[in-house]
Amino acid sequence: MSTGAGRLDVARLRGLFPALADGYVHADGPAGSLVPETVAHAVGTAMRMPIANRGGVFPASGRAEALVTGARAAVADLVGGRSGGVVLGANMTTLTYAMARALARTWRPGDDIVVSRLDHDANVRPWVQLAASVGVEVRWAEVDIETGELPAWQYADLIGRRTRLVAVTAASNALGTRPDVAGIAAQAHAVGALVYVDAVHAAPHVLLDKRSLGADFVAVSAYKWCGPHVGAVVADPDLLGYLRPDKLVPSSDKVPERFETGTPPFELYAGVSAAVDHLAGLCGDAVGTRRERLRASMAAVARHEGDLFEWLDQALRAMRHVQVLGRPERSTPTLSFTVAGMRPRQVAAELARAGICAWDGDFYARELFDALGVNETGGAVRLGLMHYNTADEVGRIIDAVAALRPR
Ligand SMILES: Cc1ncc(COP(=O)(O)O)c(C=O)c1O
Repeated sequence: MSTGAGRLDVARLRGLFPALADGYVHADGPAGSLVPETVAHAVGTAMRMPIANRGGVFPASGRAEALVTGARAAVADLVGGRSGGVVLGANMTTLTYAMARALARTWRPGDDIVVSRLDHDANVRPWVQLAASVGVEVRWAEVDIETGELPAWQYADLIGRRTRLVAVTAASNALGTRPDVAGIAAQAHAVGALVYVDAVHAAPHVLLDKRSLGADFVAVSAYKWCGPHVGAVVADPDLLGYLRPDKLVPSSDKVPERFETGTPPFELYAGVSAAVDHLAGLCGDAVGTRRERLRASMAAVARHEGDLFEWLDQALRAMRHVQVLGRPERSTPTLSFTVAGMRPRQVAAELARAGICAWDGDFYARELFDALGVNETGGAVRLGLMHYNTADEVGRIIDAVAALRPR
């Protein structure tokens, strides 16, 4: 891609990723991105300096505190939230279970919640299981199987007077679909329901903005945006103060600590901050606060990924032996496809032989792939682009998919 104002200097930024030296085309970003040296360095540095647990009166404890504060501020910048409302934890799934348990304590039999079949199971099953334990009805938003869209209009029928929660994804990790979250959230808020947005897949591709999404909770996972394996849920501190999660008696009852069980991975929190700094620095000529630089960088990322993805998407759709699932109007640079006469696992193995990392299966989008009917035949193959992918690499993917033949 070309460089210049508002463009990514992809050659420069590829040099930041030691893992790219393996020569593979990493089209597996939706399952976890590569990590730049700055992030690995930040984690290593934190492990080399004296760090104790939080709450002590000596410098090593102060350093631990600073790493927590730094990671909260970074995630707040990433999602447009307040750092006092950033709950950090092992991963999005674990945090969502904790939030579901806490929220379910506020539900009553006869209430209802709305989940969607577009979502990753981590934004479905915790809600469904907790609803069952309380006697709360679960209502399902359906996907248009032709387009892969999640129509917002259906929520008018799904949301009612007793709806307590709407859980919806900001982007499908399988089809890339970006639903009208703001439109859905407005309908939820009209009856006083809370909105839990899974932004795990969206985060590396678009600038998240908690307020304009209309989200009461935004969940992200740093390993999807060049960081370490740490999850976060961002909410309004007042809302968190109203919830009672499971916690140990001596641990802090303050917000957001109340939701964070056990001793945190301080060294990984150093990596979380470095990963947000990495994203904010992608557009070299961006200036201003980290949030402002993120805005410029994510716009440049979207242009770069969008150009490459359009080429990939059109090329695959033109191949007679390939079926790309759905055709969402607004999407991340992610698609899933099947190949006539070949199991997805075989396709992924052929692509791996051609030096391309691609996932096969259902990607935990279990409800979606059941609805699409592809799970019985092994799901699909997924390709997802990141800011470090190049036109050359997309050319390699297209050639490799074109050469696929059933054996
Ligand atoms: C869209 C989406 N939501 C949630 C998750 C679960 O995230 P975690 O691995 O942090 O639990 C994933 C992981 O792949 C995902 O892609």
